[in-house]
Amino acid sequence: MANYPAKVNIYEVGPRDGLQNEKVTVPTQAKINYINLLSAAGLPYIEATSFVSPKAVPQLGDASEVMSGIERRAGTRYPALVPNVRGMQRAIDAGVRDIALFTAASESFTKANINSTIQESLDNFKPVVEFAGEHDVRVRGYVSSALGCPYEGAVPIQKVHQVTLALLDLGVWQVSLGDTIGVGTPNQVEDLLALLLKDVPAASLAVHFHDTRGTALANVLTALQMGISTVDASAGGLGGCPYAPGASGNLSTEDLLFMLNGMGIETGVDIDKVAAASQSILQVLGKPAASKYLQACVAGG
Ligand code: HMG
Ligand code: MG
Repeated sequence: MANYPAKVNIYEVGPRDGLQNEKVTVPTQAKINYINLLSAAGLPYIEATSFVSPKAVPQLGDASEVMSGIERRAGTRYPALVPNVRGMQRAIDAGVRDIALFTAASESFTKANINSTIQESLDNFKPVVEFAGEHDVRVRGYVSSALGCPYEGAVPIQKVHQVTLALLDLGVWQVSLGDTIGVGTPNQVEDLLALLLKDVPAASLAVHFHDTRGTALANVLTALQMGISTVDASAGGLGGCPYAPGASGNLSTEDLLFMLNGMGIETGVDIDKVAAASQSILQVLGKPAASKYLQACVAGG
């Protein structure tokens, strides 16, 4: 077998990426229950919510209530998305200890998503990172449209490299490479990572694949072969960005876990408990299971 990492850290994004794109208004208490069930599964990271403008993403307008309502398990970190100093202040007030900043490798997506150019977004992040430092808050970064843009199509890997290095220079501890609209294929992942890994240690990179066209697990496998050991995933396979037309669910945490368990790669996460969390939120949303694992469970497999 190829050289895979012995342990993979799963960075759960269901409560944030999953719920930001849902039409149904999910009651705050249902979000809190979902996060508590995910905590019980032993996930090391659960991206719990987002302190963006509630006008931009009304679905997560209850970020402060969610953060103050969840039970924080020792061993789990609960990052939240933050776009600016205003969001950082709200996050600090809600007791957030980890944040994630987000920009992109294509100008049109950055404009649609956060109403700025890529350079402006990086400039806007500087005071947020300083603010975070004063409060001992850890900062992660996302580079969206890393494998393709909903508006521009192909994105040069050199651009992803440039934005990734700029975020690391600002002081983020890890950059997650987002295939926002799920158009990437393993050869692209290999080319991008080969370029990045010349300058960046593998531990400073994560992968974030939406499974829109069914390539997410193949892309993860490629990333693992190249030494990446943090993988973002969403319980139930929920997910999508309201500002990326065509973006659909993230790689589901259950499908990722099923593959990693079968390969003998340690995660510390209980797949049955993740499945229970997914079922709880899918019931609220009135949706069928998006993950293959849950579909197989429902079918009695
Ligand atoms: P803007 O309109 O350019 O900025 O939005 P603004 O400063 O003029 O603010 C507009 C209004 O929002 C003002 O209110 C502000 O006070 C308020 P008004 O004066 O009109 O009453 N406001 C805020 N309120 C609460 N909290 C805040 C905040 N900021 C401003 N933090 C902005 C710029 C960035 C704020 C906006 O575009 C925004 O919030 N965008 C977020 C978009 C978003 O959340 N997208 C989804 C997440 S990214 C993603 O899903 C990709 C990822 O998963 C990786 C991948 O898949 O690739 C991470
Ligand atoms: Mg995403």
